[in-house]
Amino acid sequence: MSSNLWKSKLGFILAASGSAIGLGNIWKFPYMTSQYGGGAFLFLYLFCVIVIGYPLLVGEVLIGRSSRKSPLHAYESKNMFWRLPGIAAFIATFIVMSYYMVIAGWSLKYLVATITGSLQFGLENNSDYSDFFTNLLGSYSSLLLYTFLFFILTMYFVIKGINSGIEKLNTYAMPLLFIILIVLAVRAVTLEGGLEAVEYLFKLDFSKINTTVIIAALGQSFFSLSIGSGAIIIYATYLNGKENILKSSTYTAGLDTLVGILAALIVIPIVFSFGHDLSQGPGLTFVTLPYMFGNMVGGFIFAILFFALLVVAALTSTVALLEVTSAICRDAVKNKLTRNQSIVVVSVSTFALSLLQMGSFNVLGGFTMFGGMTIFDVTDYLASNILLPLGGLATALYVGYIMPKHKVIQELQSEGTTNVGVKTMLYLMTTLKYFAPVVVIMVMLSITGLVKF
Ligand code: PHE
Repeated sequence: MSSNLWKSKLGFILAASGSAIGLGNIWKFPYMTSQYGGGAFLFLYLFCVIVIGYPLLVGEVLIGRSSRKSPLHAYESKNMFWRLPGIAAFIATFIVMSYYMVIAGWSLKYLVATITGSLQFGLENNSDYSDFFTNLLGSYSSLLLYTFLFFILTMYFVIKGINSGIEKLNTYAMPLLFIILIVLAVRAVTLEGGLEAVEYLFKLDFSKINTTVIIAALGQSFFSLSIGSGAIIIYATYLNGKENILKSSTYTAGLDTLVGILAALIVIPIVFSFGHDLSQGPGLTFVTLPYMFGNMVGGFIFAILFFALLVVAALTSTVALLEVTSAICRDAVKNKLTRNQSIVVVSVSTFALSLLQMGSFNVLGGFTMFGGMTIFDVTDYLASNILLPLGGLATALYVGYIMPKHKVIQELQSEGTTNVGVKTMLYLMTTLKYFAPVVVIMVMLSITGLVKF
């Protein structure tokens, strides 16, 4: 692998948070929270992050930094079984990238349409905005154009390299993202009805918890933290040996969770204050919000800020997806491709799959499987609910059982610069050895319908 390291002390934290924070937080998290019962979902989500997500994040940073290899060979073992997590990570990131670019393209389209005025604000009713969204989804050529632009933008930063491309992008993008988020959240919470939304978000109603909500919360925590995708492993290969792994992981998981909550604090109050219902699902961001922006003071500016936020957040994630997929590809062909060749090969192949993804909103919309799921639905389900959790399971088993314990401790001590307490080790090892595997396996069994809980 490359001997490149993050230049700044914050380089890894910013890049890992950039990978983690994305459409998953700003587009998916608010609508999932509202669909799955507000506080109940938030509670389960936090639970999953603390007892499964965080330890796995530490595990992936550990694997990446100690091996300094792509996920294909980072699980160091002669047993070929350990090539599987890398292969799963490749398939997952390839698939995720193919549809993620399409949604990132919608965000770019909305940003451009807001600035140029082709998305008009202040229209009479919600259906005008849903027409705009439906027209976008129905127009293959628009989707093609904006998805293509997003691919080019992503390739530009990845080709520029680890320091001058990815690190630089994240150094500017992440602070910008936080500023926009805070401005928007303050505006949203102070709207009439804002406090009611806060209450909805934090009020725990245990009766809303069931297996579907648990699966959704677990899948979302993996997707959001980029666990099982190899992205964290790859970024950790560029991490200086002296940096504190526990601290870096805490920041990454903490910032990612904070952004999800802030995004929900933006979207839900806006919807509440206009008396709309929250059951919109994916359309919440692209239909309900533009309507609301059009009807609030300064809405035009807030709309630009919001869609800029989506684009920036998406870009720091697509960059991570392309970096990991092309690194695995290069490793798989034993470095016969150069870094740039591999980036181009992976981008072109993913774009080919994106062509099908775009079709699932229009020409291929009638082509459904498993009881009405489009290609888009099936691939999202396969990646978020099956492949990423399996990747996470592999990490838990590898660090918990395969990696020698002294190596784990040594790596966590970061060349002797960090003290790792007994309690921390106990928490990490118990969650990685027992808790995470049991929960992931139970969720898998329940998804496949083999066992009903
Ligand atoms: N974590 C990103 C999000 O929440 C998506 C992602 C998944 C990015 C896997 C990289 C790898 O949007």
